[in-house]
Amino acid sequence: MSPSGSIAGPAIGLQSTVTALRAAAEETRLRILLLLTEGELSVSDFTDILGQSQPRISRHLKVLAEAGLVARHREGAWVFFRLAEGLAALSVHTLLGALDPGDARLAEDRERLAAARARRSEAAQAFFARLAPRWDELRSLHVSESDVEAAIRDIVGPAPIGSLLDIGTGTGRMLQLLAPIAERAMGLDASHAMLSVARAHLAREGLRGVELRQGDLHAPPFPRGGFDLVVMHQVLHYLNDPARAIE
Ligand SMILES: C[S@@+](CC[C@H](N)C(=O)[O-])C[C@H]1O[C@@H](n2cnc3c(N)ncnc32)[C@H](O)[C@@H]1O
Repeated sequence: MSPSGSIAGPAIGLQSTVTALRAAAEETRLRILLLLTEGELSVSDFTDILGQSQPRISRHLKVLAEAGLVARHREGAWVFFRLAEGLAALSVHTLLGALDPGDARLAEDRERLAAARARRSEAAQAFFARLAPRWDELRSLHVSESDVEAAIRDIVGPAPIGSLLDIGTGTGRMLQLLAPIAERAMGLDASHAMLSVARAHLAREGLRGVELRQGDLHAPPFPRGGFDLVVMHQVLHYLNDPARAIE
């Protein structure tokens, strides 16, 4: 506390505080804010979870955005919302942390969030299963593959790697790039279809010692700290919660 009795650190103006608290002081908006503490969500996630119409959800999100409590970004046809990082958002963090997680309505929101995420994850798996046969062609359309791979080689350096894990290996391109300088290499992917293509590629390249495992990267079937180098390439942006995956 400073001599004047205020809390040290950056301060938020009176008017912004009132606007932020007013925006949060409504049941649906408070539920939206609490759901966003679990990660980014789209308008259709909110309509599914909260059982309210799209215009109502959009109106609530607009109020929260104008008060500096949520931020949005576009991903193709989708708009995703997240908790904002400014001071206005900080002013309601304590409030969100103090909400009783056992409250029946909040518990129901959490359950519906888990169900919405499971549906999204199934849809992503189906997408990758369909894509597997053409992924190598499609991946090169995103950005110059040779530039990216040269940069990866520079970062990794020429020294032998020891043990390598490629998470979300897909068709095994990162393994083809890095396994030749690794003593041991492993690729992990949730999609059987992708792993089938990876298996064929590795055999074609003569990389027979490389292992492939099917599994979810959120619960990898390996002990912690078991690898010297872990790579994830073009994977994080497909996940609901990239930070959790990195953790
Ligand atoms: C866009 S591909 C990238 C493949 C490869 N890393 C590359 O650079 O070509 C993303 C891969 O992540 C995998 N994936 C997505 N979610 C996953 C999860 N939860 N656990 C494991 N793999 C996952 C997909 O099956 C897909 O093969």
